[in-house]
Amino acid sequence: MQHIAVLTSGGDAPGMNACIRAVVRTAIYHNCKISGVIGGYEGLIHNELKELSSADVGNIIQRGGTILKTARSLRYKTEEGLDTAYQNLKTRGVDGLVVIGGDGSFRGAEALAKKYPDIKVIGIPGTIDNDLFGTDFTIGYDTAINTVVQAVDNIRDTAISHNRLFFVEVMGRDAGLIALRSGIACGAEAILIPETTTYIDKLVEVLERGWSRKKTGCVIIVAEGDDAGGAYKVAEIVKQKFDKYETKVAILGHIQRGGSPTCMDRVLATRLGYEAVTSLLEGKNRIMVGQVSGKVTHIPLTKAVKHNSEINETILQIAEIMSL
Ligand code: F6P
Repeated sequence: MQHIAVLTSGGDAPGMNACIRAVVRTAIYHNCKISGVIGGYEGLIHNELKELSSADVGNIIQRGGTILKTARSLRYKTEEGLDTAYQNLKTRGVDGLVVIGGDGSFRGAEALAKKYPDIKVIGIPGTIDNDLFGTDFTIGYDTAINTVVQAVDNIRDTAISHNRLFFVEVMGRDAGLIALRSGIACGAEAILIPETTTYIDKLVEVLERGWSRKKTGCVIIVAEGDDAGGAYKVAEIVKQKFDKYETKVAILGHIQRGGSPTCMDRVLATRLGYEAVTSLLEGKNRIMVGQVSGKVTHIPLTKAVKHNSEINETILQIAEIMSL
């Protein structure tokens, strides 16, 4: 392996910078040339590669976002876009590519390596959604849920002071893991996620029960992609059946994607960045490096993208019991 390129793709996630830093420094340690691609796959198409030194990635471990920028590229999904990206990598002498992102990013990496086997690719799970198979945690998830917990704790102060019912919408278009974990940590009265059917009558029952035992405020966490709709829609429907509390809606939005990564995300990002480079140097290809039960794992990219992380039934039950 002579020359490795690294890119970030899809939604940014806290810890991506820590991961870039680890990739760059591990590559340099092994006397390998390392370049950053600016702007994800779109940057590959436009030949936006920049060689990185150890100093270039200094003082970024604590920063959210990604110094390499990111994008969701439509052109890369076309044959022409893929071919152009490949030609640019070839011209630069790149023979290994590290992709930090979520499942859409891995589909892009797999497409490239499948068509052009002379470029080896390794994926690193970087998304706040934690929805990839083959790793317990994705980079950014821990920071995002801690951001949610802090925000909801603040909201609960108001909920209790004013006797209000809050519907708080958190990110997760296709996955409810942000909602579920943060909801448990915040003591949410109910957690609505895309993976389970939302029954409004059941939700109203929970609220009635709380009201009858003189609860002074309630917080319902709604994942963006819940089947009953977003927080505004659910609040509207619930209001028609239960109006004892004053109802408010808070959309947390992109504050969940930014900010300084937690210690856990920094360490995970560093470990996986290191593993991605060493895996490339060992000749591995078309895999994602992850961490399961504290151990580094390697699974084919196709598997990482194929399955959504399953929701643990016990965790769902615990969430329900805790809201009694
Ligand atoms: O995949 C990360 C994520 O933040 C999802 O939770 C969310 O649904 C989506 O990205 C939002 O994407 P965008 O920032 O492009 O609107």
